[in-house]
Amino acid sequence: MSTLVTNIGELVTNDPTVDDGPLGVIADAALVVEHGHVVWTGPAAEAPDADERADVGGRAVVPGFVDSHAHLVFAGDRAAEFEARMSGARYDGGGIGTTVAATRNASDDELRARLCGLLAEMRRQGTTTVEVKSGYGLTVDDEARSLRLAAEVTPETTFLGAHVVPAEYAGRADEYVALVTGPMLAACAPHARWVDVFCEPGSAHAFDGDQARAVLEAGRDAGLGLRVHANQLSAGPGVQLAVELGAASADHCTHLGAADVDALAGGTTVATLLPGVEFSTRSPYPDARRLLDAGVTLALATDCNPGSCFTSSMAFCIALAVREMHMTPAEALWAATAGGASALDRSDVGRLAPGARADLAVLDAPSYRHLAYRPGVPLVHALELPSVQP
Ligand code: NIG
Ligand code: FE
Repeated sequence: MSTLVTNIGELVTNDPTVDDGPLGVIADAALVVEHGHVVWTGPAAEAPDADERADVGGRAVVPGFVDSHAHLVFAGDRAAEFEARMSGARYDGGGIGTTVAATRNASDDELRARLCGLLAEMRRQGTTTVEVKSGYGLTVDDEARSLRLAAEVTPETTFLGAHVVPAEYAGRADEYVALVTGPMLAACAPHARWVDVFCEPGSAHAFDGDQARAVLEAGRDAGLGLRVHANQLSAGPGVQLAVELGAASADHCTHLGAADVDALAGGTTVATLLPGVEFSTRSPYPDARRLLDAGVTLALATDCNPGSCFTSSMAFCIALAVREMHMTPAEALWAATAGGASALDRSDVGRLAPGARADLAVLDAPSYRHLAYRPGVPLVHALELPSVQP
């Protein structure tokens, strides 16, 4: 069964062979989908025949968003912590313990219902690929359970046993790292594609460079790809460690020195920026322009979690990236689609070119620019075609 999606006012392909910009924009376009994959893109006037036809009425079509950083397996609520921050309290990761307690007390069904509810919320807003981390269980059984649930909904599952040192290990961080790199990793690796660590030596709750290295090397030895929560709250070794170990992504990258930027520019690690966190913690934004000028590949993601940033909206992150980090609308959309795919080492998503998955978002707008121009407006338009569902 093939479907011709036509009367697309503006099609963003992220196919660099289409024009001289990275977005590969085609005006008055069409695309053909077969068996869930794009088989043709081009001007509508030149489109081939297909079994069925969907007219999107001149709307813009963009690749579905690739949200490469989210923490969706959790229970509980931390709205009061957010309220306190808005009155001046500082975010230091200490509230994670509250979510850990609630998550341990929740049933599988409660966790699954929350996870699926958030995924549906993301889907309605145009996200078609999402990475999901563990990190609110912090026991062997609770981390393995979180990853089992995550693996029910996405192949992009990340073991984050080294999120914080749990209360029962207070003052014994090295013993906890031994648990994470030993029995916990063994129980979790079968359900995970990635390993991650909150490397933040300045935080009383997170992990220093040596501990982060131990976690990442153990994960790598177990066959997992690497990702790092790096340089979120202060300067530290996380970014350079990520690049040295060939991590797919260094996430946050808020507090960078020249050596960090040089390392990212010289390596293969994507810098994933999470501007919803700075918005929701009232903190300075990362210097996206400095990274772009140095030639670093950027991704944008939500970091959707109950503490530092409880948005599921990639469009909101695009608007923040443009307004607050001075990215162009094109740079921000690329980072939220192709950049996210790169951060997950995926070439089948984040673009709408022949061979890619037909994960598309139809916008109730004539141009992708409206994602930033119309902040807070739900622009994603449902496309009710069985063969084109992402
Ligand atoms: O990416 N920094 C560590 N982890 C999350 C926050 C988790 C939480 O506060 O519950 C983050 O910001
Ligand atoms: Fe995070």
